[in-house]
Amino acid sequence: MLAAAGKLATFISLPYHPVMAETLATLLAERLNETLAKSSFAGDLPEGFRAHVEQAQNRQFGDYQSNAAMILAKQVKKNPRELASEIAESFDGGTLCDKPEIAGPGFINFRITTDALAERAAILLNDPDHLGVEQATNPQTIVLDFSAPNVAKPMHVGHIRSTIIGDSLSRVARFLGHNVITDNHIGDWGTQFGMILWGWKNLLDEKALEADPIPELLRVYREVNAKTKEDESLREECKGQLVALQSGDKENLAIWEKCIELSKIGLKKIYDQLDVSFDHWLGESFYNDQLGPLVEQLVAENIATESDGAIVIFSDGTLSEKEDPFLKSEDGEIKPQPALIQKSDGGFLYATTDLATIDYRISDLGADALWYVVGVPQQLHFDQLFQISKRRGQKADLQFIPFGSILGKDRKMLRTREGETVQLADVLTESIERARKVIDEKNPDLSDGEKHEIATVIGIGAVKYAELSQFRMTDYIFDWDTMLALKGNTAPYLINAYVRTRAIFRKLGSDFAGIDSFTLTADAEKNLVLKLAQFGETVPTVLNDFRPNGLATYLYELATTYHKFWEACPVLREEGAVRETRLALCELTGRVLKCGLGLLGIRTTEKM
Ligand code: ARG
Repeated sequence: MLAAAGKLATFISLPYHPVMAETLATLLAERLNETLAKSSFAGDLPEGFRAHVEQAQNRQFGDYQSNAAMILAKQVKKNPRELASEIAESFDGGTLCDKPEIAGPGFINFRITTDALAERAAILLNDPDHLGVEQATNPQTIVLDFSAPNVAKPMHVGHIRSTIIGDSLSRVARFLGHNVITDNHIGDWGTQFGMILWGWKNLLDEKALEADPIPELLRVYREVNAKTKEDESLREECKGQLVALQSGDKENLAIWEKCIELSKIGLKKIYDQLDVSFDHWLGESFYNDQLGPLVEQLVAENIATESDGAIVIFSDGTLSEKEDPFLKSEDGEIKPQPALIQKSDGGFLYATTDLATIDYRISDLGADALWYVVGVPQQLHFDQLFQISKRRGQKADLQFIPFGSILGKDRKMLRTREGETVQLADVLTESIERARKVIDEKNPDLSDGEKHEIATVIGIGAVKYAELSQFRMTDYIFDWDTMLALKGNTAPYLINAYVRTRAIFRKLGSDFAGIDSFTLTADAEKNLVLKLAQFGETVPTVLNDFRPNGLATYLYELATTYHKFWEACPVLREEGAVRETRLALCELTGRVLKCGLGLLGIRTTEKM
């Protein structure tokens, strides 16, 4: 069947996964296209037409469905229902599916045979590393830019989203066989350093800094920031500190370096807790030396021009007014909206650094694709960057992967009771504490060490899952009670389903011993196998528009399907092939849940 992969490529096309061979959906589509090619109307088919088969929305009518007849009806001059019947009549499902049925205005519905399901289950069981997920045939080198907090400022909830989404995308892309390079592009050269330097010299509490650097740096930053609001001369002094730093003042450079070092230690603690890591930490300052030459080059290439003493990039007029990020409509008029890359005082900007970053990632890191997981307010910045990169003839696939806001229960931006922005570290601590309370009540007999471990996995998992189970553009409401609930679409529910798959082997007193073939007797078993087999159809779609929430939904459905199986099908009370099959289904479900949660960056525990 694998030999057909090249042919399959033409009818399932995902940008980062052109071939999805060997799933039930592609096997059915292959047969459907063979049927069409042999039909009486084969000559009337649109050039290169490929029928698709999808998972059925309503399982009442079948497991998979195709709307091919509805799409083709006009072209081949037939009524869609009649056409569907004609296709169904001549469709040869082999051992894969029963004779298709027609529903609604002309859907063709397929039901997978019990034999084919049993065969799928065996294939999955023999594929413990990939569980039916095919590797991409076009592995790309992808530089993934996410998290990227600003030094000496706290990592706030906006960075939570970037960190969690970015980490999950990196895991999925790696699992599919791509070469992923993660880079934490921290803001380590921003204007905040003017204030931090002044604060360091005048307000710093050395003891507090030693004990816990990030909160102390933050306190200093906030205090100076507040003071400058009322004090014009202090603002000038801070600016002076920044200029001294930028022109290489030894003392200021030493303080700056110390700040970065301390901040990194603090950040790493949070990343460890989150189980997130980066291949590189190439912050903004890494590109300082390249900014001057880059601006010169852009001017020489006629991409940038001087305007009022500054260097800017204007529209080149190749895009329509609506699409052109260098134009804006204001008071009913179209006006230029240039990108500023060097100020008239010689200073460089966020955009200049990002242009240098693109160069480095393409030429030094060998990137085919650059993905940025950054909040939606930076849309314009990235639209302009990507356009400039195109104008420079760079070929890398550039993807801006934005996300919305996190709201409090009052549907306003999430804030602490004191009205300040919520810090990621505090969110994690509180989540773990809350999970611990639930475990203390539910399972008081566990050891303290076990309780701590479980509370950490669930607390962190709950925060991540609340994020990843939503479409990233949705403004989601941060609510502890829903996040940590044991029922519903939550991390605790999913982890609990996994724990259940493990509990049975503890009861059995041994690990899963293997099985030669599956004997499927109950509907609940067949439903479960079908769901398990769809893991391979689900994972590649995550990179299609960058939606980990599709995987989350799948895992939730798998957990509920398993739950129903658990209720309907006794395992240890059975004997022989039925018992063996059910044990194997528990094992397989456990593997898929663990692997799928792992792709979301969520760990599992054996007990809870
Ligand atoms: N440091 C920026 C911020 O906190 C995010 C950086 C995103 N990455 C980039 N290459 N611009 O807003």
